[in-house]
Amino acid sequence: MKILSVFLLFYIFSASVFAQNMSSPNGIFSFSFKVNDSGEAVYDLFYKSKPVLKASKLGFIIKDQPDLKSGFKIVETKNDAKNETWNPVWGEVKTIRNNYNELAVTLEQKTDNLTRKIIVRFRLFDDGLGFCYEFPVQDGLKYFTLLDEKTEFNLTGDHKTFWIPGDYDSQEYVYNTTKLSGINATKGKYVNEIAVKSVFADNGVQTPLMMKTADGLYINIHEAALLNYPAMHIFVDRQNFSLTSHLAPNAVGSAAFLQTPMQTPWRTIIVSDKAADILASKMILNLNEPTKYTDTSWIKPQKFVGVWWGMHVGTESWNYADVNNVKIDETDWKSLKPNGKHGANTANVKKYIDFAAKNGIQGVLVEGWNVGWEDWFGNWKENVFDFITPYPDFDVKELQNYAASKGVKLIMHHETSASASNYERRLDEAFRFMKANGYDAVKTGYVGRIIPRGENHDGQWMVNHYVHVVKKAAEYKISVDSHESVRLTGLHRTYPNWIAAEAARGNEFNAWSEGNPPEHETILPFTRLMGGPMDYTPGIFEIKMSKYDPKKTNQVHTTLAKQLALYVTMYSPLQMAADLPENYESRLDAFQFIKDVAVDWDDTKILEAEPGDFLTIARKAKGKNEWFVGAITDENARTATASLDFLAPNMQYVATIYADAKNADWEKNPMVYEIKSYLVDRKTALKLQLANGGGAAVSLKPATPADQKNLKSY
Ligand code: NOJ
Ligand code: CA
Repeated sequence: MKILSVFLLFYIFSASVFAQNMSSPNGIFSFSFKVNDSGEAVYDLFYKSKPVLKASKLGFIIKDQPDLKSGFKIVETKNDAKNETWNPVWGEVKTIRNNYNELAVTLEQKTDNLTRKIIVRFRLFDDGLGFCYEFPVQDGLKYFTLLDEKTEFNLTGDHKTFWIPGDYDSQEYVYNTTKLSGINATKGKYVNEIAVKSVFADNGVQTPLMMKTADGLYINIHEAALLNYPAMHIFVDRQNFSLTSHLAPNAVGSAAFLQTPMQTPWRTIIVSDKAADILASKMILNLNEPTKYTDTSWIKPQKFVGVWWGMHVGTESWNYADVNNVKIDETDWKSLKPNGKHGANTANVKKYIDFAAKNGIQGVLVEGWNVGWEDWFGNWKENVFDFITPYPDFDVKELQNYAASKGVKLIMHHETSASASNYERRLDEAFRFMKANGYDAVKTGYVGRIIPRGENHDGQWMVNHYVHVVKKAAEYKISVDSHESVRLTGLHRTYPNWIAAEAARGNEFNAWSEGNPPEHETILPFTRLMGGPMDYTPGIFEIKMSKYDPKKTNQVHTTLAKQLALYVTMYSPLQMAADLPENYESRLDAFQFIKDVAVDWDDTKILEAEPGDFLTIARKAKGKNEWFVGAITDENARTATASLDFLAPNMQYVATIYADAKNADWEKNPMVYEIKSYLVDRKTALKLQLANGGGAAVSLKPATPADQKNLKSY
């Protein structure tokens, strides 16, 4: 009895005064949480005994209520732990380990007339910390309006940071690399007059935010399971190196309308002294809920080609006629005069179907097939597209039959012109139309300012919209590739038919803007891709846009070989072969890599990595004894090393190396490449010469007796 009461006393005392400590399963991380003398909830984080985050505060600002930031008391603490494995429907690896120690702290704040409670749930993994807030049902918080979340990430120094400006509507920026103290979002690279208007503060940046400390620690901050809540942006204190969360606002200037019980997304801090470990982390996926779909056999990782690049380079158009201000419900489309450039015509689509069928490419995307494109851009109109009415030169039934006869799947395109309310109203009809005509994947798009007016791409309303579309699509067994949506947060674990998203600056920018500098693709895996796959649309072979129009100076800022490497370095279960078929027909030897490369994987090895500089990744094709390696570099030439010790023992493989030619250079001579095959085994280490802005792609397949006779060893 005495022992019990001493224990109880100790428990109550310790819970309220002493810090709660926790280590990660392998002890590499330690963490503490406490309520300080001012009643503020603070946590810190250490990696190999080095501080990553100093005492960082937690809290919220709630409309018409006192701030929920101080006056806290710990009323309960609970520990838990998990060590389990699970298998994703598709992914970079076959099996994922979910291993963490957990601390859940119930905090109570009492003011004169209000008692409120939140639970902060911390999970410490061997790759970092995740935590979320829970608001249980309570009198003080039933329905409430959140004005902002004030989660701090109090860093230890002026770290090197890879950042894009905070913007509630777009992530299509070039990355800047500066110290934290040097962040100026309104003066970022290529931030032009239009972009400046949507950059919300000069110290605002987006997540995933990638940093590197002076002593070589890599830190990545993002979020997991963004549901019914706005996307998290970050304010940077450029003097004290503290980051504070900031939620994308809604049309009425608050952040979120919430109802208890509710849980926020997880805040994630992934840390390692090896850059490769950041890319290998599965923490964000582990913090998402398992899928509830009982049948996932209809979700198909795939490669596709499409009526698409022609529009971006200007040789074809989405629109059928050259008329402005045509209203969808007032026009007899059959009477319009065609402009002669419409890409989505039946004959052209058949060419793509033929090309796909001949080369074992599963899908064909067709953009500009439906009426509305004469007047879709920048007009902020409610009803631009109906998603069911084809242009007169696009024969839906004939193409359905033709594609089926060739064993190819057409991929639907739903550009919403950001009129999300219009899309929601028409969604069932649009999906029924798809199913009736043989489509089971859709690329959605949200170009422009959001309708409902005043909402933002990253706000709670739109976050709910994207998830609604994905769930509704699942009812129809349709997979979704969302463009201009909020960036991903690992929700593809829960909704595996959310098969990819753009939500970053894609390859298309190279066709019609200053483009993406050579380092871009070495940064994206550490930033945007931390949350999930990106539809980057790689595979551009015709690098210079002057090919299409001598006046154009735009170009892809890579060599051709680097475009091949992106199929491995830029993970996605949905990969476009984005160039025009004729540009592949004229270089079928290089196109062979795109034909061969897998899109779903048993295993992934990050062989070399440095954000902003280089990346070498090897992946094993799902269910096959085949590996693919991609190596890329920034504007500096380099030798990549790929030790093939992951290959099966006692076996010879054929390594086919698609490399930059000796005189290759992304700017001066981007399209010269060499293809060579050698016999290799697990003792081989490949040395791959990458040109400035270059890359190399390698396929590794078991050697046949004929290969063993004909090929030289590496
Ligand atoms: C932007 C998308 O990223 C691009 O792929 C698409 O072609 C256009 N919007 C038109 O929807
Ligand atoms: Ca885009």
